[in-house]
Amino acid sequence: MQYDFDTPVDRRNTASLKWDKYSDRNIIPFWVADMDFNSAPEIQEALKTRLAHGVYGYTVPSEEVKQSVVDYLLRDHGYEIDPKWIVWTPGIVPALNLFCRAFGESGSSVMTATPVYPPFLTAPANSDRNLIQIELMWDGNRWTFDFDKMEEAIRPDTKSFILCNPHNPVGRVFDRKELKQLADFCVRHDLVLCTDEVHSDLILEPGLTHTPTNLISQEIAQRTVMLTSPSKTYNLPGLCCAYAIVENSKIRMAFRKVAAGIITEINAFGYCGCQAAYNHGEAWRLALINYLKANRDYLYDFVGKHMPQIKMRPMEATYLAWMDVSGLDLDNSVAHFESHGVGLSEGSFFGAQGHVRFNFGCARSLMEEGLQRMQSAVAAL
Ligand SMILES: Cc1ncc(COP(=O)(O)O)c(C=O)c1O
Repeated sequence: MQYDFDTPVDRRNTASLKWDKYSDRNIIPFWVADMDFNSAPEIQEALKTRLAHGVYGYTVPSEEVKQSVVDYLLRDHGYEIDPKWIVWTPGIVPALNLFCRAFGESGSSVMTATPVYPPFLTAPANSDRNLIQIELMWDGNRWTFDFDKMEEAIRPDTKSFILCNPHNPVGRVFDRKELKQLADFCVRHDLVLCTDEVHSDLILEPGLTHTPTNLISQEIAQRTVMLTSPSKTYNLPGLCCAYAIVENSKIRMAFRKVAAGIITEINAFGYCGCQAAYNHGEAWRLALINYLKANRDYLYDFVGKHMPQIKMRPMEATYLAWMDVSGLDLDNSVAHFESHGVGLSEGSFFGAQGHVRFNFGCARSLMEEGLQRMQSAVAAL
């Protein structure tokens, strides 16, 4: 089947978080990680069938949806799981917050590597935990963990590490060696690891593959809460369906305990979309990857040619481009670009001043228009 990513979809007046932010201004949104594509027709069909049933009662995860997760993890990532390890949640952000509540105690600390997806920075404080931020290190070729700084900063009260892999916003796909070193660090310091792998099916760099951290060793798998969902890859975040894979039963019970009575069933459409994505979405995903790869290459080329003051490191995954705009010397770079009609994410929310993030998960023509507006914004300085 041919999939159409080129025709822009009008999302105004659809209660879209991304588009409504600028509903009364001529600003094209390239901020939150939400793509402007129609869902795969295969997913739309499954949802229509579910909708047509007409009864939308409390819904439990069916054997079929559980099997779709089991099959997906084995087929796409070589990870064999027992369906008993799945804990469903209405999103990864709630799961991150549950994780912080479940491990350590009030006043203990959580470590992470920055810049990183903003809820990593707010979830510890939401649970009365302290956050230890260690900056990722540019080693001349790639962003990687700064293990020396991590060893220096760890404290006796540090009880967990939260990892984003593939990484939002720097776009790294950490390799086995880096993950092994991180796993050893967690084991040595008796940390529980939360690994958010939601971007694992959005690898753009040919030849790279995602390694689930749980495949690194049994030792790390026994102290890990892995979070993922089809919502980034298939753009289903509005269906609110994610899940954790927790191999260790004690850790799983602790995680479930903090969710008890607060996180109830996922909605019927969430399970339905998840199952359809995993069982029937692969052809669409492959077409999407090709499209995103071409968008990424266009964007890098454009920025290099027309806005060389903006620095960008190579990215391997995601549809989120991380831009170093510190050379522009702006007090408020997001406001400046907004005044030229482009809505970007603010770097300081990720823990890095002087940066913005551009979401290129949209029709090429829209991205081109956004980049031209950015060029005018830079030229106006
Ligand atoms: C790394 C990462 N985790 C989680 C999320 C959001 O997940 P959810 O919508 O399931 O809460 C995002 C969205 O941008 C993300 O980039």
